[in-house]
Amino acid sequence: MMRIEERVPLAPCTTLGVGGSARFFADCTSEAEIGDALHDARTHKIPVAILGGGSNTLIPDVGFDGLVIKVSIPGMTFADEGEGSMATVGAGVSWDAFVREASERTLWGIENLAGIPGTVGGAVVQNIGAYGSELAETFVACDTVLLANGASKTIDRSLAALAYRTSLFKHRRDLVITRATFRLAKRGTPNLAYPGLKEAQERGDPLATPGEIAEAVRRIRSEKFPHGEGTAGSFFKNPILPLAQVEALKKRFPELPTSALGEGRAKIALAWILDHVLNLRGYARGPVRMFERQPLALVTSPRARAEDVEALAHDIAKRVRETIGIDIEREVETLRAK
Ligand code: EPU
Repeated sequence: MMRIEERVPLAPCTTLGVGGSARFFADCTSEAEIGDALHDARTHKIPVAILGGGSNTLIPDVGFDGLVIKVSIPGMTFADEGEGSMATVGAGVSWDAFVREASERTLWGIENLAGIPGTVGGAVVQNIGAYGSELAETFVACDTVLLANGASKTIDRSLAALAYRTSLFKHRRDLVITRATFRLAKRGTPNLAYPGLKEAQERGDPLATPGEIAEAVRRIRSEKFPHGEGTAGSFFKNPILPLAQVEALKKRFPELPTSALGEGRAKIALAWILDHVLNLRGYARGPVRMFERQPLALVTSPRARAEDVEALAHDIAKRVRETIGIDIEREVETLRAK
């Protein structure tokens, strides 16, 4: 049974581990429970915020003066489909648990996304990507509940507008994802082009099955990202810029890694700028710092507050603006009302 709790600290619900409490909090394990919680919120006219795995969310120090719904819908089903399998997964399932289950079944398509923290719902919202792969490659559709009246609505891939670390769900904040469907393949070719995987291949590591690739990706990630400390992975997105601007930057910084995206735009590696141009590896402000091995990842110590995170994030954004004239965007989102 879903219970609405009061004054629940939210910091432990997130991987950054900072911020205040929720006035009300409901951990929902089904569409019906989400519907009930939304109904309560409407009746009492209180704002609602949605939380998944908390791996990409910054909780303000003041917390949230409303109802936080944590989406914990479980369940994974796989339906055979000739060449492939349609996987339907509850939004509250841990993304990596889904990758493990797919690997067990030797299904291809999400193995390069192994080891990413967070839930399946959150993974769809921000179209997670890593090691040369993106959730969009396998995403078919998702079920949602409308905040305003609890009605269900299925959003298919053409409507979902998945793009680099974004989707319809970033703008349509009135849609709560409850379940998502992915098309996985029974046969596949390893995608080992990304640095790290290429090196593993050159070393002769086993990389023939989705499970072996997923394990290799988890190993690479564990070497590159902090553990035992608060973090949300990349705190900022890699900037996407018009080619002319990228060319101008390449003149100044010939080594800057870039990747063409088509439509006259390219993505630049912000980690490289933070490292080689701004020298910000390990740069600390009080209890927060940019990670030594991956300066795009912000790291918090247990006594950090959201205001410390904000101060460092503003400082970094200002330095980037002043040095290369680009306004960077956050990948991490602040918890706010839907
Ligand atoms: N680099 C440096 N110095 C460093 C670290 C990196 O110069 O200290 C350079 C690297 O040599 C590389 C470039 O910066 O050429 C990019 O670095 P990396 O491959 O580590 O990836 P990233 O672009 O910083 C993105 C995703 C990660 C994902 C990795 C691996 C974004 C915002 N981040 O990071 O996703 O794991 O690629 O594919 O797109 C996340 O979204 O939270 C996340 C961790």
